[in-house]
Amino acid sequence: MKPVEIKEDIWWIGAVDWNRRSFHGYSVSPLGTTYNNYLIVDDKVALVDTVDKHFWGRLKCNVAQVLGDRKVDYFVINHLEPDHAGCLADAVEHYKPEKIYVSPMGEKAMKAHFHYKDWPVEVVPTGSTVSLGKYSLNFVETRMLHWPDSMLTYVPEAKLAFTNDAFGQNIASSERFADEYDPWVLEQSMRHYYANIVLPYSPMVIKTLDAIEDMGIEIDMICPDHGLIFRGDDVAWVIEKYREYAAQKPKNKAVIVYDSMWKSTEHMAEAVATGLADKGVSVKIYSMKADHHSIIMTEIFDAAAVVVGSPTHNNGILPLMADMLTYMKGLRPQNKIGAAIGSFGWSGECVKILTEWLEKMSMDVVDPVKQKFVPDHEGLGQCYELGLLLGDKIQEKLAE
Ligand SMILES: Cc1cc2nc3c(=O)[nH]c(=O)nc-3n(C[C@H](O)[C@H](O)[C@H](O)COP(=O)(O)O)c2cc1C
Ligand SMILES: [Fe+2]
Ligand SMILES: [Fe+2]
Repeated sequence: MKPVEIKEDIWWIGAVDWNRRSFHGYSVSPLGTTYNNYLIVDDKVALVDTVDKHFWGRLKCNVAQVLGDRKVDYFVINHLEPDHAGCLADAVEHYKPEKIYVSPMGEKAMKAHFHYKDWPVEVVPTGSTVSLGKYSLNFVETRMLHWPDSMLTYVPEAKLAFTNDAFGQNIASSERFADEYDPWVLEQSMRHYYANIVLPYSPMVIKTLDAIEDMGIEIDMICPDHGLIFRGDDVAWVIEKYREYAAQKPKNKAVIVYDSMWKSTEHMAEAVATGLADKGVSVKIYSMKADHHSIIMTEIFDAAAVVVGSPTHNNGILPLMADMLTYMKGLRPQNKIGAAIGSFGWSGECVKILTEWLEKMSMDVVDPVKQKFVPDHEGLGQCYELGLLLGDKIQEKLAE
């Protein structure tokens, strides 16, 4: 895609990764992604972030299309993760910038990534300002949103914020602005991105949004480093969405996720779902064999209850459930009721292990249900009862 002038003399010059289906190896990205970076052409020319290393050629081509023979004077590196700083070493060598602006933690991360000796690095803590001419750059550290070095760069004269990973979505598109794109698909992508990348840093999201509000910064364009740019009314909308996501307020919804060898645990899961549905709860059932952990996580994120199921397998649980639980725990979902179910043959450790995982996630855990080999009518009845109980607990939680 060609560079796009998003405000006077401020250009999107990113790379669209149409065929990317795995985002950093842990999350799916069925719509591809983009590595957005930006160029501000003023008395001084500033390059904001770079792109994935595979797109170094694209970056040079984009810069040349906008600048012709003019040189790049400054680099602003909002985050050192290689999808945004992957071309930095090549770019320093090629453009020989006068200054490279980074956050205090960014300097440390930059050293650990590039082991450079003589780069013209200048640390810009929150509150620092750099003038480019008619435009200036104001820096705000967004530490741990989602790396220690993350920062946001605000251009007051353009009322524009470069937010790096925050507000991103994995979407490859010919459109550049959110208002040009299907709103439903956009929101699903935002939710997927939030649930799988930003969720553990939700307290930081609230803190950052509060700080921005307190500073009285006016924003009429949010430019993330992945996906579409928000402008006009979409700015308030996306900020509101982030506040909603970060609050992690549960919905009248339960997710049942399980793995099963011979379908006993699967039948138990369906009986629990029937009980929940009879109490008016919206239920989604996922087999780990059918879906990727990042897709399931996007559903768990706003559910009030999570039921996890596995048969006992070699005195443990099935490996795909261990994958899901490890992944889920790392994302630190809040405000959930949890329950474990599973079929077993002899030693029967499954529900104990699953329950321990739920407790480690500080869920409000109810008694598990375990069934020997193939559950009979009565056994499935116990699962149905668990569904009813969870339904009541969810209603209580929503009334809090
Ligand atoms: C390879 C294998 C290992 C198993 N290991 C155990 C075990 O250590 N303890 C136990 O109680 N049951 C064990 N079982 C029995 C299963 O838990 C039991 O067959 C259960 O009903 C399977 O549930 P599912 O239909 O949901 O897969 C094992 C079964 C298989 C096939
Ligand atoms: Fe990142
Ligand atoms: Fe990123």
